[in-house]
Amino acid sequence: MTLPKACIFDLDGVIVDTVPAHFVAWKAMADELNIPFTEIDNEQLKGVSRTESMRRILEMGGMTKSASEIEELTTRKNHIYVDIISKMTPNDILPGVVEFLDLLKDNDIAIALGSSSKNAPVILKAVGLSDRFEVAVDGNHISHSKPHPEVFLLGADQLGLSPADCVVFEDAISGVQAAKRGNFKCIGVGESDILHEADLVIPDMKAIDLSIFNQL
Ligand code: BG6
Ligand code: MG
Repeated sequence: MTLPKACIFDLDGVIVDTVPAHFVAWKAMADELNIPFTEIDNEQLKGVSRTESMRRILEMGGMTKSASEIEELTTRKNHIYVDIISKMTPNDILPGVVEFLDLLKDNDIAIALGSSSKNAPVILKAVGLSDRFEVAVDGNHISHSKPHPEVFLLGADQLGLSPADCVVFEDAISGVQAAKRGNFKCIGVGESDILHEADLVIPDMKAIDLSIFNQL
């Protein structure tokens, strides 16, 4: 493709290194419930909302809980998580991200956020990136979690663009699916065997430049 008019970035695992913090916090809840939970299990939760993630962990353990119990568990998980991320600094921005955002800006390609996280505004502030996104759609603005395309469609809409004008960057299976269901081109950031539904997979954001869009 030629250059896109905008790039829409997932946050956790693409812009910032919060994946281990989510894992630690979910693992604490799973351990408490005596549900085995590994990093492989965690892969299925990436991109998925807080409540849906809790439901999936309970499902892994063959357990059911009431809505209020789920609320109580997710609130405690979030306390553990927020405690970790409150110590974040610009050093937690993943390698290559700032350079790539600069490159996009220099080339008049709009930059948007499309995250499932309700903590996104806090994280962006902590790492000093709040001003870098023209449009920021996060978990506070959507009713349907990835793999539903709502978060990206809303982002494109707020940019005044159609999905065909935008490229999504995602590290989660659910996020890649959301992008593809919304008719976006999608660059997976991570392992190609996990993110095989993406149009292109890169291992990380290091040393990427505009030539990446030629490969779509
Ligand atoms: C996504 C993460 O970005 O946000 C998920 O990949 C997480 O792991 C989801 O569950 C919701 O995040 P939060 O910060 O609202 O609990
Ligand atoms: Mg992610």
